Amino acid sequence: AAPGTAAPFTPSAPLVRATPNSSGRVEFPAGFLWGAATAAYQVEGAGAEDGRLDSIWDVFCRIPGAVHHGDDGMVACDHYHRYREDVELMKSLHLDTYRFSTSWARVVPDGRTVNPRGLDFYSRLVDELLEADIMPWLTLYHWDLPQALEEQGGWPARDTAYRFADYAAVMGDALGDRVPVWTTLNEPWCSAFLGYTAGVHAPGKKSPELGLAAAHHLMLGHGLAVETLRERAPQASLGITLNFTVSDPVDPDNPADVDAARRDDGMFNRIFLDPVLRGAYPQDILVDVAHLGLAELIEPGDLEIISTPIDVLGVNYYNGGAVAATPDPESATASGVPDGTAGPDGAREHDATGPVWETRSPNPVPDGVHPRSRGLPITDMGWEVQPEGLTRLLVRIQEDYTGPRGTALFVTENGAAYPDVVEQDGTVDDQDRLAFLDAHLRALKDAIDAGADVRGYFAWSLMDNFEWALGYAKRFGLTRVDYETQERTVKSSGRWYADVARDNAVPA
Ligand code: NOJ
Repeated sequence: AAPGTAAPFTPSAPLVRATPNSSGRVEFPAGFLWGAATAAYQVEGAGAEDGRLDSIWDVFCRIPGAVHHGDDGMVACDHYHRYREDVELMKSLHLDTYRFSTSWARVVPDGRTVNPRGLDFYSRLVDELLEADIMPWLTLYHWDLPQALEEQGGWPARDTAYRFADYAAVMGDALGDRVPVWTTLNEPWCSAFLGYTAGVHAPGKKSPELGLAAAHHLMLGHGLAVETLRERAPQASLGITLNFTVSDPVDPDNPADVDAARRDDGMFNRIFLDPVLRGAYPQDILVDVAHLGLAELIEPGDLEIISTPIDVLGVNYYNGGAVAATPDPESATASGVPDGTAGPDGAREHDATGPVWETRSPNPVPDGVHPRSRGLPITDMGWEVQPEGLTRLLVRIQEDYTGPRGTALFVTENGAAYPDVVEQDGTVDDQDRLAFLDAHLRALKDAIDAGADVRGYFAWSLMDNFEWALGYAKRFGLTRVDYETQERTVKSSGRWYADVARDNAVPA
């Protein structure tokens, strides 16, 4: 669609396949890339070392009750000191590529002055990866804004987008010749709406207007960073990683539920997809949020910058969800989770062991969008296990967004938290996680067979790590981390995944 025109909305229809890849050996295309992902604040530790200053997450973790158990990322997996061992671990898992993020607060601690010691860590890490023949895939922003910039307004302030471009330039100058793939932002939906509207992520603000302003300036920062990286790393592939839901109306024959799915899809997926890949915000969403000031923030030229061509789109997929226009009358889902109460005021309700907001809809859209349980199995996060959603999502993105522009797709995150049981010998036989990965890889292959140009897959995560507001209580790793000893033990899922990566195939 031309800039300024509305993106048509069609509720996603189940993709009907005669022979889903639900059993048997599944081969992937030659050259398909197998990887695992982490993020700086979740694994590095070394929170106050070598000149690093606070990010918004360091400050958020100090707020009583903000993070489960009062956990923080000061030590995390101590990856900052153990990166050589961790690259060895990646090698043993036969990974082709490793997706990590760089910490802005380490590289440009005050938001303006470069810290060479912080930069040097990433230079050493990249060299170690290249030495091991593992392709570095670098994410510039995985949620850890320097606190100094938050104090100057954070993402709701336009200036932050320009500071992000400066940081991108620093990284491009330092690593542009060695890092083949760069993604600007990881999951801007979370940065904007969990951070500034729901208040469950740093910096813990609760305002729909701030969330929308943050979203626009994150988008602007993305576009500016792509422009600057293009000059500094002309050989590199550039892109962004978005998180997606697959919104299904709980009753497809009820127009109100269909409209709830439209708004959920709009505020979760299209609000980022459309500006980046079509050069315009979705018209229906601009109408829905007209009273919240988004249109007023858009300056002439912004959407041209935001839609600067990208080479890769990273897709993070954990689950979709059924939504309704009204709260569940029984007000409790099959999983025992209160339903219909999603709203910024319930922000800290997940603190104990309940599900995380990432799947709910704290979107600043008028009138509620109410998640409904479909009785599907759930993970330790309370998230539905819904592999066919990945097939539908990838095919839709290909057809509606990336295909026409020739942008390649990568699944940059997929995985599951389960309550792992450690055997006496220290092993973890996580058949639940293994089955989750197996089902999602089969669903991914279904999408390729249906025409989606998916070139690679990253498991979340290489190892157990700091799960944001849930602290260390939720474990997503292919590798177990004993936080007392920092010992890493590859789980059954990790050994299985290593064979998949080696053979470029999911076994029967
Ligand atoms: C997506 C985020 O990018 C990652 O940081 C997080 O740990 C996983 N989801 C699991 O919640």
